[in-house]
Amino acid sequence: METDRIILRPWRDSDAPSLYKWASDPDVGPRAGWPPHQSVEESLEVIRTVFCDATNTWAIELKETGEAIGAMGYGPSCNCNLPARDGEPLIGYWIAKPYWNKGICTEALGLMIEHIRCMTDIKSLISGHFTDNPASGRVMEKCGFVPTGETVIDETQYQGKDRPIRVLRLTISA
Ligand SMILES: CC(C)(COP(=O)(O)OP(=O)(O)OC[C@H]1O[C@@H](n2cnc3c(N)ncnc32)[C@H](O)[C@@H]1OP(=O)(O)O)[C@@H](O)C(=O)NCCC(=O)NCCS
Repeated sequence: METDRIILRPWRDSDAPSLYKWASDPDVGPRAGWPPHQSVEESLEVIRTVFCDATNTWAIELKETGEAIGAMGYGPSCNCNLPARDGEPLIGYWIAKPYWNKGICTEALGLMIEHIRCMTDIKSLISGHFTDNPASGRVMEKCGFVPTGETVIDETQYQGKDRPIRVLRLTISA
């Protein structure tokens, strides 16, 4: 999947140094509910255990540099404590801070939605963002997600305690 400036492609072991460089930034993971990476070894472990399913998890590669600068994916929502429908996948993403506010995440999410629409029978997607992280909500809204309410998840998300989450859903049309 690609546009003029990005490619969504499987993660590789060789992405570990880039992943560590971007995911160790304390401004990235905590906004999404996960702790900053502590070492290149940890990033490699994440590539091998969390980012390992190439059918639903992709590195966002910037064509200009050939580097992975973010992640895009979807997966089971059963452990996320959001009010998901039966079998409704949860989406997630992040972009390295130097590349924020250039429309890259919106472009990548648009690619993934198109892929899901064409290649699967998934009927809807759910996600949520901390209300103190409105940029993420804006990305979803630009891709057609509609707010459905707010919840608080607490301990299942890093620094999630007492941080309200705004929940959004996308209905996938044929
Ligand atoms: C959220 C994130 C993925 C957005 O990536 P991005 O590539 O910068 O997103 P885009 O440029 O496509 O769109 C960002 C939108 O948010 C808007 N925005 C940025 N900061 C904002 C703020 N404080 N309040 C409201 N809107 C804001 C931008 O103006 C833009 O909207 P616009 O096109 O209408 O102007 C990125 O900031 C990130 O990785 N954050 C840390 C991890 C994270 O939050 N992941 C998602 C967890 S739910």
